[in-house]
Amino acid sequence: MSDELTVIAIDGPAGSGKSTVARRLAERLGIEYLDTGAMYRSVTFAVLANGVDPEDEEKVAAVARRVRIDLDDGGLVIVDGVDATTQIRGPEVSRSVSVVAANQEVRSELVSRQREWTRRRGGGVLEGRDIGTVVFPDADLKVYLTADPQVRAARRAREVTDLDYDVVAADLARRDSYDSERKHDPLRQAGDALILDTTGLTIDEVVDDLAKRLVDG
Ligand code: DC
Repeated sequence: MSDELTVIAIDGPAGSGKSTVARRLAERLGIEYLDTGAMYRSVTFAVLANGVDPEDEEKVAAVARRVRIDLDDGGLVIVDGVDATTQIRGPEVSRSVSVVAANQEVRSELVSRQREWTRRRGGGVLEGRDIGTVVFPDADLKVYLTADPQVRAARRAREVTDLDYDVVAADLARRDSYDSERKHDPLRQAGDALILDTTGLTIDEVVDDLAKRLVDG
């Protein structure tokens, strides 16, 4: 990475612990954190709010180009001036987000916003599916987090309290395969990423390990 930018890329499937690890690591390093999944979810929210069919590639791309997404440090997500913090995690958005994220024009719009966000801040911890492979292939540290599917589903079910385990597990399995098999920038491990299986680890153990690697170089 260039001398001015410090970038940490954290990728992996849903429920692998990415968001919590990325947020805590950013706090520890005193740099900012970007949840890129929230950006794909925000575009999906705007698509649905505008009555656009998520499968209509051209209209969805047009929404992505013009939508205003504000992600604040406290976790609030404002989409075109509307507080969408809760709805972007809800079942409607979760059902359609993989289709929207498979749209190449949506991806190129959001990737350029992610690079711009990072440049303005001199770096950051970015989490998603394609950070180490596409957005910042030269990141200072690239991590691919994973965990057993049952453990990932149980973590998600705890976060989304109004859905039961079976519904969450089915949605996760569907998104895993869709996100890994899509044509444009699918979820995959960067060849030079550090692969960490978080199944038996606590968040603190993972964050400590990553912070140590950064210090040790
Ligand atoms: O991390 P999440 O579950 O909030 O992500 C929501 C969806 O967005 C997920 O199904 C895949 C997609 N996504 C992506 O394609 N690329 C990213 N960098 C981040 C998320």
